Amino acid sequence: MKDSIVNLIVDEKHSLQELLQKMDQGAKGILLVVDKSGQLQRTITDGDIRRLLLSDMPLHAKNIQFGNKKPVTAKLDTSSVELLTLMKEAGVNQIPIIDDSGRPVKLISISDLNDRILLSTPHMGDLELDYVNQAFQTNWIAPLGPNVDAFENELVEKVQGGYGAALSSGTAAIHMGLVLLDVKPGDIVFCSSLTFIASANPIMYQGAVPVFIDSELDSWNMSPEALKRAFEDAVITNRLPKAVVVVNLYGQSADMDPIKDLCDMYNVPIIEDAAESLGATYKGRSSGSIGHLGVYSFNGNKIITTSGGGMLISDDIELIKRARHLATQARDPAPWYQHTEVGFNYRMSNVLAGIGRGQLKVLDSRVEQRRAIFDYYEASSLSTLIDWMPEADFGRSNRWLTVGLINKNVESDVQTVIDNLSEKGIEARRVWKPLHLQPIFADCKYFAHSDDLSCSDLLFDKGICLPSGTQLNKFQLDRVISELVQACS
Ligand SMILES: Cc1ncc(COP(=O)(O)O)c(C=O)c1O
Repeated sequence: MKDSIVNLIVDEKHSLQELLQKMDQGAKGILLVVDKSGQLQRTITDGDIRRLLLSDMPLHAKNIQFGNKKPVTAKLDTSSVELLTLMKEAGVNQIPIIDDSGRPVKLISISDLNDRILLSTPHMGDLELDYVNQAFQTNWIAPLGPNVDAFENELVEKVQGGYGAALSSGTAAIHMGLVLLDVKPGDIVFCSSLTFIASANPIMYQGAVPVFIDSELDSWNMSPEALKRAFEDAVITNRLPKAVVVVNLYGQSADMDPIKDLCDMYNVPIIEDAAESLGATYKGRSSGSIGHLGVYSFNGNKIITTSGGGMLISDDIELIKRARHLATQARDPAPWYQHTEVGFNYRMSNVLAGIGRGQLKVLDSRVEQRRAIFDYYEASSLSTLIDWMPEADFGRSNRWLTVGLINKNVESDVQTVIDNLSEKGIEARRVWKPLHLQPIFADCKYFAHSDDLSCSDLLFDKGICLPSGTQLNKFQLDRVISELVQACS
């Protein structure tokens, strides 16, 4: 939640030329002048610099006297409404925030307070462009190359996940997983019901038949009880699944041990859909590294992004080699274009893998930032209105999205709350509509948690996802909180 203002801070030792450079690099149209103790003395704007240049001041001049006009400042606990009033009164679009000793800690812009707040936006670090530039300089723009190899190696090292195939999307990775497990038309595949449709669409690509499994309330993920009953039914009907797609929702792992025990008992492999949970853990292991195959997504809204991309991982090198082969149109090793089976154009480009390498470097801090955003919401007055998604004691969530259930203190239904928020320029979303409720899957079997409780129905009915992007600052979160409190009343 920290906005870096280091690039904006200057003192009297800076020459006019250096001030110009800082103004250019900071790209905010403002610099913060501090004294020897770091206290804010005043601000300098583009206009101040322009006037100095017009007065023929030499570029190397230092100790420039800007006068002592005290800047309008605010404190960290100033509310966004008070900030907007201050800006209006002073006729400014930016206000430095100072700490108790008068040192600048943030710069708040009017756009932070007025602009639409989105659910989860991409957040680049410092290194992505370097890797992308390397790709350009070496002309490795193809869907293969050194960044792809390095991204695969760096990611699997990070998650201790064996081997990786970088692909064009998380959906492509799930599809590859099903192909590798030989899922064919008419085969059954079990799949979590409470998830984005991308978890199940690849089952349809294979002409297979999804059977949906409910969630349990401790993790909101696949209920081992429901899975058990689905297996028992499959034995009776003699239609055991070819694979089970287990989803780790909103950054939290499913309870993998009992799920794995059941799948092992029936000898059915798991595809662990960790599209939303990179950086989370289950009993100390990385989410996504526990199934036979694990899937990550680097879509623009995920905790780290390559703008679009995915990764399939496994401890089985042969499976991953085969995934890389199939994902490159299954070209045989022959001197001409020769093919003996159907392939796919699913590889990640070397340019995008460069973004992924840079993003991987900031994964740990993004997890901490997302968790801090959750903590901030949790510590606010919202906790009287929302029962937060629990963090199961078997793991550590990355809190990709802050999600909760509106409780009995809220009279409106969740859609009205979301619509009210949208009118105030804030994007919130419903929890995924369970797949067993989707028209496209109306004919599919579904196993609820118990005879009288379908957890995913309940979570859909009351669930709300709040803005959780790591670029959000405290003032924007305060705005979400106060607008949400109003939207609930
Ligand atoms: C649970 C889940 N599975 C799969 C996907 C698919 O990933 P992608 O968008 O990279 O295809 C997503 C997200 O988009 C997801 O949230």
